[in-house]
Amino acid sequence: MERLKSSARLMIVSDLDHTMVDHHDPNNLSILRFNALWEAKYRHDSLLVFSTGRSPTLYKQLRKEKPMLTPDITIMSVGTEITYGNAMVPDEGWVDFLNHKWDKKIVTEETSKIPDLTLQSETEQRPHKASFYVKKEKAQEIMKTLSESLVKRGLDVKIIYSGGMDLDILPQGAGKGQALAYLHKKLKAEGKLPQNTLACGDSGNDAELFTIPDVHGVMVVKNAQEELLQWHAENAKNNPKIIHADETCAAGIIQAIGHFNLGPNTSPRDLPDLLDAKLDHFDPAYEVVKFYLLLEKWRRAEIDSPERYLNNLKAVCSPAGLYVNPFGIEQSFGDVIGKLKDCYGDKKGKQYQVWVDQVFPTQIDSDTWLVKFKKLDQTGEEQQCCYTTAILSSKDVEPSQGLTWVHVHQTWMDGSTGDDKSWFL
Ligand code: GLC
Ligand code: MG
Repeated sequence: MERLKSSARLMIVSDLDHTMVDHHDPNNLSILRFNALWEAKYRHDSLLVFSTGRSPTLYKQLRKEKPMLTPDITIMSVGTEITYGNAMVPDEGWVDFLNHKWDKKIVTEETSKIPDLTLQSETEQRPHKASFYVKKEKAQEIMKTLSESLVKRGLDVKIIYSGGMDLDILPQGAGKGQALAYLHKKLKAEGKLPQNTLACGDSGNDAELFTIPDVHGVMVVKNAQEELLQWHAENAKNNPKIIHADETCAAGIIQAIGHFNLGPNTSPRDLPDLLDAKLDHFDPAYEVVKFYLLLEKWRRAEIDSPERYLNNLKAVCSPAGLYVNPFGIEQSFGDVIGKLKDCYGDKKGKQYQVWVDQVFPTQIDSDTWLVKFKKLDQTGEEQQCCYTTAILSSKDVEPSQGLTWVHVHQTWMDGSTGDDKSWFL
């Protein structure tokens, strides 16, 4: 959070499964649209918060499977674990707060008396969260019995039913909504309350996100779960700050950004002709997003006029430019363009996707930007990632021509094996 010197322009707090992440789309179209929009238009002055029911273990697993951005703040285990930044530094203050009237041992004792509760996997049992599976028809009755027995034992708990199968028991002060309220309070104390907050969710544990004051809410979709729809009907039908999107998953989030007028809502992925998209000001983040979208299209053979693309590329690459690839080999931009010609369509018909993450431009002199970002690609299930540093220049060009690429340097990120010779840019 220290990254921003003042209030975030927009803070998006989004659930993951079936909200940011569409498990029914192997092409990951809506999340990739969101990613391009976020990195091009929001990353530099806004905050991205993921709020998931998943434990850290399952959250990290999902990141390996889907093209997800890196959030500024990660809230896991249904609002019981808050962490900051890439290093995922835990918020100890939140942990202390959750100990109030909570004793995991007592929860275990009381739940073991109910045969209809099936324990979820070990990874999903957390210090302030006990999780079970329960059949829909039993849920209400079990929630009532449990809350009575736990009160009798001196605890103050919150029981949440989600997705028509998951039952979570948490300390009363926990939950996705309370975690968001806590973050707002913290940011406010630093004088950095976001100008706008958009909460996004699809199931029971997301309902409380929409009860936090001053939060715009979007229930994504057609796919919103029955229990959330019911909550909406009973609690928020006439609340104009909460909408029920008619688009699915991340496309619903983009729709809500437009609906509430929270800022730009056209993803660079949706521009009909990226080569023709001209800007009236220099925008290095947009330039990086666009470059990699075109690279993906090029390798998938989805560029209408390859000649025009190559000419455009030659025009925006400095003749003296250098690319240092993650194997440490230096190539001139001329060589790179030659190599690009060879890989036209090499990913055609494959599930090949490219996205950039954490695009951070810094202006280093009157006409030069240093842009740091992670460049990722995924072919099928295989993800690769390189830290990338690029130098872009506005010297002797107009905004409509786009910035000139002067230097690109890549380094393998932890986890990428670095032995895949198919890596390119
Ligand atoms: C995620 C968690 C699970 C939890 C559910 C609903 O699926 O892995 O433990 O019960 O979210 O909150
Ligand atoms: Mg969900």
